[in-house]
Amino acid sequence: MFVAGNWKSNKSFSEAKEFANVMQGMSPFPEQVEVMVAPPAPYLAAMGQEGLPFRLGAQNVSATGPGAQTGEFTAEMLAGCGVVDVIVGHSERRDGHGDVDAVVAEKVNRVLEAGLRVVFCCGESLQDRQSDVHFDKVLRQMESAILHLPVEVMDRVVVAYEPIWAIGTGLTATADQAQEMHAAIRGWLREAYDAETAAGIPILYGGSCKPGNADELFACADVDGGLIGGAALEPDSFRAIIDAAGRVASAKVGVDAGA
Ligand code: PGA
Repeated sequence: MFVAGNWKSNKSFSEAKEFANVMQGMSPFPEQVEVMVAPPAPYLAAMGQEGLPFRLGAQNVSATGPGAQTGEFTAEMLAGCGVVDVIVGHSERRDGHGDVDAVVAEKVNRVLEAGLRVVFCCGESLQDRQSDVHFDKVLRQMESAILHLPVEVMDRVVVAYEPIWAIGTGLTATADQAQEMHAAIRGWLREAYDAETAAGIPILYGGSCKPGNADELFACADVDGGLIGGAALEPDSFRAIIDAAGRVASAKVGVDAGA
């Protein structure tokens, strides 16, 4: 299981350091859970110097290489700061910051070329869902950003399904809605690559995932963790979600062993 926190544009630098200290002081995270936190970019270099209890993630990256690109930061620069995972294609960037499909695809390439892992976000709007085109929408996003990748890099790809109507709204996909989309994504990966590759790619759910609903969402067969926004801002709620992932991971191992 993989639990990733996306702080978006929240927290002062001192609050960010305090969060890391509090998490550091907690009992060790469950073994079967990988944990990542993506703070605002200006904090990455300093946070990457600390012995963090979680993987350090970035929320964005440049689609270009080094050179005359004022204000941009490359994937190699992130790697040099201790970043290991990069979120690409978040709906807030697709909708508000010009990350159209071609830009997202280029960013995915840059992250992988720099040897980092990409957390690729996809998801449909409420209108897409109401018009019953949500599967098409998500699978088209997969096609545009992922299909061209060689199988060799797929062990550094994580997919995050984030229905836009559930992000920061308090509305959550039901476990059934999450599972059917995750199963469609897994099926697409199986077709595009192979069964083993598809089975190995973590597919995270994002969109108002909280301590109160994490167990149920994570228990879905094709949900391998969560990309958490609001509930990742406080150590206690983030830790509660990590613990939910730990519980579910143990239960899923039990099911697999008994199968
Ligand atoms: P949320 O955000 O948990 O606050 O809904 C999720 C995300 O945008 O990654």
